[in-house]
Amino acid sequence: MKTIEAIEQRHSVRQYLEKPIEAELAGKLQDEIEAINRESGLHIQMFLNEPEAFQANKPSYGQFSGCRNYFAMVGKKGMDEEVGYYGQRLVLFAQQLGLNTCWVAMTYKKGKVTPQIGSGEKLYIVIALGYGKTQGVPHKLKDVSEVSDQTEDAPEWYRRGIRAALLAPTAVNQQKFKFTRNGDKVSVKAGLGFYTKIDLGIVKYNFEAGAGKENFS
Ligand SMILES: Cc1cc2nc3c(=O)[nH]c(=O)nc-3n(C[C@H](O)[C@H](O)[C@H](O)COP(=O)(O)O)c2cc1C
Repeated sequence: MKTIEAIEQRHSVRQYLEKPIEAELAGKLQDEIEAINRESGLHIQMFLNEPEAFQANKPSYGQFSGCRNYFAMVGKKGMDEEVGYYGQRLVLFAQQLGLNTCWVAMTYKKGKVTPQIGSGEKLYIVIALGYGKTQGVPHKLKDVSEVSDQTEDAPEWYRRGIRAALLAPTAVNQQKFKFTRNGDKVSVKAGLGFYTKIDLGIVKYNFEAGAGKENFS
């Protein structure tokens, strides 16, 4: 599966099967995490067969069931955007392996998630991981004009990039970002709101994958 297909097919999944992740897939995920940590300086850690992080007491928004695995997104302070960018690389990699995910900032049990946290580091967010009961549902997309300056004569790569950005997960589906283009130079800014810096990193990853890095700077 190509990255762009993973972008189209990925939706947040909150209900999971009890089925464990096979050792071979776990190994591939671990290798990818190590590559990302080397490249980014992040300290992402994977936890498998640890159901307590998502055991909810009462039904509410963001209720999870059956989730036993997650990535703990740890890194030095001030790395919100990198957390988003590299976390989304991992999310799409997991999707390509046939797994499902959900970014989770609020609705997990904080006391049950205890990754290693080095000096100057913090736990930003977790990403639930496993085999979904379903593949989830597409989120409502903002109009292209709300998130970009895309015009009728915009190049094909820019359209593909904006489409991929709109498909990105954002906190409470806020999609608070704005792309502008000058020739082959692209800028994107985050709006005001919770977690918009992490969202910005996620959206940048999706844009790059959709537009093709070779087409713009
Ligand atoms: C930074 C961030 C934080 C999120 N926090 C939560 C959360 O605490 N609980 C939850 O159930 N979903 C959470 N989500 C998932 C979003 O609600 C979801 O991505 C959004 O509604 C779009 O839907 P989709 O991922 O299915 O495309 C979060 C997503 C992001 C990017």
